[in-house]
Amino acid sequence: MNMYDSARMADLLRPLGYDLSSAPQGADMVILNTCHIREKASEKVFSELGRLRPLKDELQQKKGRKMILAVAGCVAQAEGEEIVKRAPYVDMVFGPQSFHRLPEMVAKAARGAGAVLDTDFPAESKFDFLPEEQASQGPSAFLAVQEGCDKFCTFCVVPYTRGAEYSRPAADVLQEARRLIASGAKEITLLGQNVNAYHGEAKGGTWSLARLIEAVAALPGIARIRYTTSHPKDMTADLIEAHRDIPQLMPYLHLPVQSGSDAVLDAMNRKHRAEDYLRIIEDLRAARPDIALSSDFIVGFPGESEKDFEATMDIVRKTLYAQAYSFKYSPRPGTPASIQDGQVGEGVKTERLARLQQLLITQQTAFNQSKLGAVLPVLFDRNGKKPGQIMGKTAYMQSLYIEGAAQELIGKILPVRVTGAYQNGLAGELCTKQDAISASMAFCSNPTAQVSA
Ligand code: 5AD
Ligand code: SF4
Repeated sequence: MNMYDSARMADLLRPLGYDLSSAPQGADMVILNTCHIREKASEKVFSELGRLRPLKDELQQKKGRKMILAVAGCVAQAEGEEIVKRAPYVDMVFGPQSFHRLPEMVAKAARGAGAVLDTDFPAESKFDFLPEEQASQGPSAFLAVQEGCDKFCTFCVVPYTRGAEYSRPAADVLQEARRLIASGAKEITLLGQNVNAYHGEAKGGTWSLARLIEAVAALPGIARIRYTTSHPKDMTADLIEAHRDIPQLMPYLHLPVQSGSDAVLDAMNRKHRAEDYLRIIEDLRAARPDIALSSDFIVGFPGESEKDFEATMDIVRKTLYAQAYSFKYSPRPGTPASIQDGQVGEGVKTERLARLQQLLITQQTAFNQSKLGAVLPVLFDRNGKKPGQIMGKTAYMQSLYIEGAAQELIGKILPVRVTGAYQNGLAGELCTKQDAISASMAFCSNPTAQVSA
């Protein structure tokens, strides 16, 4: 979401004469777009600001030009006043819901009448004020459809920094999707902090996320649709059925469970039990047997016993993940869990995280290896780090690279035979006639079709 917001800020600033720069040296404006979800976020902001200050001074002294220095995002939202106090050389501080006011803020900051602080939750939706996106996001694009969260998990700052749940009207989403497709997007990821709680206004009533996905899938030129991040509580029957019925909806889902212990889930205010999650996974697999799953986990939540942690290990063993993110619990200021009894020691958190990550890495590697020798459709979307490498994504969100391929591949979906499988991704070769015969003739002539390993 921060990457998406940054691109939208660039869209807002372009008409004012700004363009993206690859380095802060000599830039007329530097915006730190920040995340507050886990610890050390604010210390990182202050240390970055300390590194930028001499660049700002140097530009003023040597060139007589002002560098507008800004802090945006959730750290700005949560700690705006503190930033202005501790770093008075910062010109603008604004939260994730007010960046549509950037043109006004820039005008004020350019006049230099002290720091401009805007951490309101405005009554208007910023989406109504953002310009049409101007820069192509390339073959794989993000589209924000929902923002904010009303779930109030006791560990999480999002409801306080991003604010209340808001869904964009379906017509606006579809218009943006059409523009993204026209500028080269083959894959669109629908974004939201709680994206499956989507309930957007539409002709004839409110649309669910499943209904919205169906409408995006009907747009000519869209090959792949994804959505992230979802909450198990909002995994409705129509959304599960969409995984069965909509061919462009990719067989991959990031569905965070956080913990496998009912006591911890309850203390986290997750509003479901471990067995509810396992039932959803079962229903998803019945709808789309090859679906690859991902999750977020928190270890060392206040009160988590060894038995609770074992329940998390158990849910991982039962689910079998294609990949996952796992974190040590980090107390966030202002959240209920941060002042709860039973805070877990750092040593215990470190040890549990290592055990969990070892299991998750084993599962991820096994998932990648299960695709060895298969022919999979790959969307090529970027250059690799090494010269001559082109990178793409399988339907299951695995990164895959091929060597010595032509640049023209970027933006295409082509069948690839998997020749290498590693912890973090795959290597492959473009599908040959031989593969076509051994895998599926139909598939190689229609590479957007799905073939499972
Ligand atoms: N401590 C650790 N991890 C957290 N997350 C959110 N808040 C915290 C916290 N206080 C993790 C959750 C969430 C992901 C985006 O970040 O797992 O799903
Ligand atoms: Fe945070 Fe997600 Fe819980 Fe909302 S549902 S409070 S964003 S963890």
